[in-house]
Amino acid sequence: MSDQSSRILEYLYVNCGVDLRGYRKETLERRLTVRMAATGCVSCGQYIDYLQEHPGECEDFIDALTIKVSGFFRDPPVYEILKNKTFPDLLSARTKQGKSFVSVWSAGCARGQEAYTAAMLLHDLAAKEAPFLTLHIVGTDVDARSLQAAREGRYPAGELAGTEEGFLKRYFVKEGDYYRVVPEIRRMVTFGRHNLTGMNSGGPSEGLFASYDIIFCRNVLIYYNRDRQSRVLKRLAGMLNTGGCLVLGKAESLPRELSTAMPEAYRGTKIYFKRESLCL
Ligand SMILES: C[S@@+](CC[C@H](N)C(=O)[O-])C[C@H]1O[C@@H](n2cnc3c(N)ncnc32)[C@H](O)[C@@H]1O
Repeated sequence: MSDQSSRILEYLYVNCGVDLRGYRKETLERRLTVRMAATGCVSCGQYIDYLQEHPGECEDFIDALTIKVSGFFRDPPVYEILKNKTFPDLLSARTKQGKSFVSVWSAGCARGQEAYTAAMLLHDLAAKEAPFLTLHIVGTDVDARSLQAAREGRYPAGELAGTEEGFLKRYFVKEGDYYRVVPEIRRMVTFGRHNLTGMNSGGPSEGLFASYDIIFCRNVLIYYNRDRQSRVLKRLAGMLNTGGCLVLGKAESLPRELSTAMPEAYRGTKIYFKRESLCL
């Protein structure tokens, strides 16, 4: 199935403009089997024919392939550091530099939880410490359906388990069985489709930023092979402002060639600071 499954990724790349060619084979083949069963196809060739005849299947396939587990304040110790150290330091540095804004990118944002968590924390801090700074958060994902849900910003109560009471009261409104992120926070975040692992993909076109103060890329690259991981991480490092930081997921780390210029700020947190401009 291996060569055949690669043909499907090639098809998606050429016909849907979505480059998932570095995706891990085992996950790819498991998910492909599910879509083939759902569409009644018994071979990859037949599934490619099906994709050609049913353009909507491309989205179904991307939906099935990508893993969208996320949460507000996911990995609380990481958010403790961001809240108490990284974000306050960033706001004060930007103020001292005379800058008017802070830019944050949540790359692989799923249904928006990570982007909104950053928005809430920054909003809370900036109100006290840097009221003149404008806060821009960009959330991107390859999965169009997740982005639609992210823009809605509505979550079942059970998904807010990790959210502090104070944040819940200030930044969400109850709508039946759901909680919706308040408009003030929703307005801070722009969501858009962006394929992080595309060979030539730069930053998202949604934000007007050439570089970012903070880039979250958590639990996205674990599904890709090492070569693709390393390319994407170098590109992200290049798009980070000096003094900014890249936040990865628990099971992810920087390739060796980046780890000297970008040390982990606090052991085990996967928050990496860019100390100087990099020649990559
Ligand atoms: C497991 S979720 C992680 C969500 C969030 N970053 C977190 O840590 O909670 C992975 C997300 O990455 C997205 N993703 C996977 N491959 C991608 C790619 N090549 N470009 C952009 N997003 C991608 C998936 O659609 C999914 O929403």
